[in-house]
Parts: sequence; C-alpha cells; structure tokens
Amino acid sequence: MATIIDGKAIAAAIFAEVASGVGEMAAAGVGLPGLAVVLVGEDPASIVYVGRKLAHTRKAGFQSFEHRLPAETNEVDLLELIEQLNANPMVNGILVQLPLPPHIRANRILDAIEPLKDVDGFHPVNVGRLSIGTEGLVPCTPLGCMLLLETVIEDFRGLKAVVIGKSNIVGKPVAMLLLERECTVTVTHIATRGLPEIVRSADIVVAAAGSPGLVRGDWVKPGAVVIDVGINRIGTPGIDSRLVGDTAFVELGHAAAITPVPGGVGPMTVACLLRNTLIAAKKQQRSALPGDGRQKRLVSLT
Ligand code: GUN
Repeated sequence: MATIIDGKAIAAAIFAEVASGVGEMAAAGVGLPGLAVVLVGEDPASIVYVGRKLAHTRKAGFQSFEHRLPAETNEVDLLELIEQLNANPMVNGILVQLPLPPHIRANRILDAIEPLKDVDGFHPVNVGRLSIGTEGLVPCTPLGCMLLLETVIEDFRGLKAVVIGKSNIVGKPVAMLLLERECTVTVTHIATRGLPEIVRSADIVVAAAGSPGLVRGDWVKPGAVVIDVGINRIGTPGIDSRLVGDTAFVELGHAAAITPVPGGVGPMTVACLLRNTLIAAKKQQRSALPGDGRQKRLVSLT
C-alpha cells in the first residue's frame, strides 16, 4: 500500500516552528509579525480560505489585518489600500486572495505589492528570483508540495517529475522548485496530448489541474510519489457533497506515497503562508533603521 503523506501532521510541525520563531521575536522585544489579508467580493471558496488563513494567523500570535471589500471595489481604491499596507510598518505580509473580480486586473494589483511583503510570492520580482534560483519569497502551495515531497524523497536529482497544470499559483512555481532540485520536469496542461502516457513516465506526479479524479490508477507507475493539489467539491450540497482531489485516490495503492484530499496539501498552504510571513518580518526587521523605531522605506529586492 502507498504511504499516505500526512499533510496535517507536517503542517502542525511547521506551525510549531513558526510559534517558536514568534516566541523568539517576543523575547527579543521586537514587534510580532503582522499579516494583512485582502478579500474582494464574495467568492464562496475564497471566503472559506480567507477565514482559515485569518484563524491560523491569530492562533500563531501574529497581528492580523483583515480587509473585506465589496465586489464593486475599483482598481484605484484597491491600489490605494495596497499602498497603505506597503507603508504600514506593522504589516509584514500582504495577501490579496485570488481570484479577483473580473473588472480588476490582478497583475496590476500584484505588481503593486512591496516584494518584501509579498508573502504569496506572486510579485514579478519574487517570480523572477524563483526562476533564477535566488532567495525570495516562494508561493505557499508549491513550497508546501516540496516540503511534503521531502518527507518521502531523499535525493531528487535526476528524478522525472510531471506537473499537471500550468497556473502561476501552483504549476509553474512548483516546476521551478523541482527543476532547482535537478529533477527533469515536464509541465503539462489542458492542451497536452497523450497526458496518461506522459504521467506514466513520472517518478513524481504533481496534479494541479482542478479536475476531480483526473489521474487514474493506470496513469501512475508503481513506486511513483503523487502530490494531489486538487480541492474539488463534488456531489449535491446537503446530501453527498464532499471534497476530492485531482487523482482517483483509491486506484493509487501501487504508488510509493500519495497525499490525501483533504489533509494533504491544503494544510501546508496555510502553514507556509505563516512561515513566509515570519521570514518576511525578520527580513524587514533587518532593514529597519536603528534608533528611531521606524522602518526604512522598503526598497525593492532588485
Ligand atoms: N487563490 C488560490 N490559491 C491562492 C493562494 O495561494 N494565494 C492567493 N492569494 N490566492 C489564492
């Protein structure tokens, strides 16, 4: 039987690490990390995710700054809020929940976030840093995938990894991280031909397609490690509604290891968000002006 990679337990270890980092900051008499979470509109899944992120932020002892804006909010007003958060020394991390309503250009908003506070790792500076393998803030879900993989794989070098999905949030950044570990990486997507055959060649499969049960048992070679990033709600609300991933989990007993849904990647995303916020807070402290307690204007990472 495949080893079930327990994302909940691994995330709990990260939460504990973060808590000890917060304890150290408190003991040193420096301000606690602050995370601002911005939600525009009422997308039901986003409301759940944001609620979870805020609950964990508070539980970790961070200061949380919650901004829930109506769906009609315009780009200029949202940019103004980002500018305020960039300038607020109590805010070390800024997260704008995606997707944004269609009249707001997400790129314009993400580009406006100070890169040192970009705890989602979506700013072009951080994306660029990831692509050239230098230090920056790394997107939370891909980072979570790598931390899960590290619990079952010692040496990534030369392994064949197939990523299903080319999103900016998961597919592309996880491909970069796998490449950095010297995997041979194939990124597949909706237009890929012969997907089952390509997946069958993989030692590592990262399924991030948003398609329930897409990866079937005969797509996965025996001994492969499968990371299921999918969170799909299926069934009838109130009757048999449930969350499933992008893999046919029960057909994958021949894998070496697999993440469950729920309880696999999901908890890691929030844990990595707090981890990134702590890293960002520490970095910002290092760039603080001595003496007057104010922070130096945050320059871009370039
Ligand atoms: N929407 C889905 N995943 C994410 C994420 O990791 N960060 C943000 N900001 N929005 C998301």
